[in-house]
Amino acid sequence: MTHARREAFLPFTRPMVGQEEIAELIDSIESGWLTTGPKAARFEAALEAYNGVPHCLVMNSATTAQEITLQCLGLQPGDEVITTALTWVSTLSTIVLQGGVPVLVDIDPATLNLDPAGLEAAITPRTRGIIPVHLTGLPAPMDAIWRIAKAHGLWVVEDAAQAMGARYRGCRIGADPRSVFTVFSFHPNKNMTTGEGGAIAFHDDAFEGRIKRLRFHGIERDAWKRFAKEGSPHFDVTEPARKANFMDIQAAIGLHQLKKLDGFNARRGHLFRRYLDLMADLGEVLLPVAGDEVHQHCFHLFVLRIRPEKARMDRDAFVARLKDENIGTGIHYRPAHVHSFYRDFYAARPHALPKGGLPHTEWSGERLLSLPLWPGLTEEDQDQVVAAIKHVLAHP
Ligand SMILES: Cc1ncc(COP(=O)(O)O)c(C=O)c1O
Repeated sequence: MTHARREAFLPFTRPMVGQEEIAELIDSIESGWLTTGPKAARFEAALEAYNGVPHCLVMNSATTAQEITLQCLGLQPGDEVITTALTWVSTLSTIVLQGGVPVLVDIDPATLNLDPAGLEAAITPRTRGIIPVHLTGLPAPMDAIWRIAKAHGLWVVEDAAQAMGARYRGCRIGADPRSVFTVFSFHPNKNMTTGEGGAIAFHDDAFEGRIKRLRFHGIERDAWKRFAKEGSPHFDVTEPARKANFMDIQAAIGLHQLKKLDGFNARRGHLFRRYLDLMADLGEVLLPVAGDEVHQHCFHLFVLRIRPEKARMDRDAFVARLKDENIGTGIHYRPAHVHSFYRDFYAARPHALPKGGLPHTEWSGERLLSLPLWPGLTEEDQDQVVAAIKHVLAHP
């Protein structure tokens, strides 16, 4: 059979921003209120309702959100936080920026998520908490993580940047109070977007004021109320803090994205399963798991791993060949500890890595790539992706 190369380049993801978002944006612009205001407040209430949490506060990114959670938890220089290297680097950098040490445990190669089997051995008297990451939108094994955290008096902060809409044991990620904070991202690559943006979901009312101060100059009162008719121009700064507030023009997009999220995720799930069917007979690649009743996926990423010995090419060659076929892919992720900063960081702190290293993280990190997956992807696009993969594998 002759193989026709796809004509236009297919990116691995695209945001799905439609007419509703555009109309709401215009409404914000015409109202004269662009920055943090009533729409940001409405978006927070909508997120609380969707996620089933009493508090969900928004800010400029998930990275800032995670920094703020660590500040709220009083992370001190030298404190240790256990996490995974197979994540976006902000999971680690936010700990390091606070003077902390990310202590790494290996992943479960079946799910790519942190393997709780490594947790006990990683705990020391300096350990303060655990940050599991729901990589690809597949929930991490939270029962084991919560059990070990409780036994050792550790907090849990979930990095749910990729997991809006996923569920663990039927509950939305963030809804279980055994995690003190859960952090979401609304970056354009995510299942729903606000352009840039992030949120912290939490249960303890006591954190509300602090998070509001830490996201906006150390001022607790909602700044926009200062300028509204009922507001007073006076305010008090109670601590120095960053400026990381969330704009109404971001909320304008988010309010409609949130309404569409379940539909987006259902479509992602359909396409994810269809990829599994279309590639079921390919021995050269390892396919991802689709989750189960406990770990209910939101299908953020479809991560394939190539078996170089069978494919007779490595991941980077495979990615380059797919690009020649006009198929875009992503790499989620190059493990954090192989980046130059962290190579030096862990060389100086060998105790922060397991004795046997991170063999599963490294094995997967060298072989993984993300295929195009977003709700607007057509089955025809998907057929072309799979045809290109089969063509490249047949002609190494
Ligand atoms: C697992 C994970 N954590 C954190 C982040 C950071 O999110 P943001 O870009 O909103 O800061 C991302 C974004 O890619 C992510 O995928």
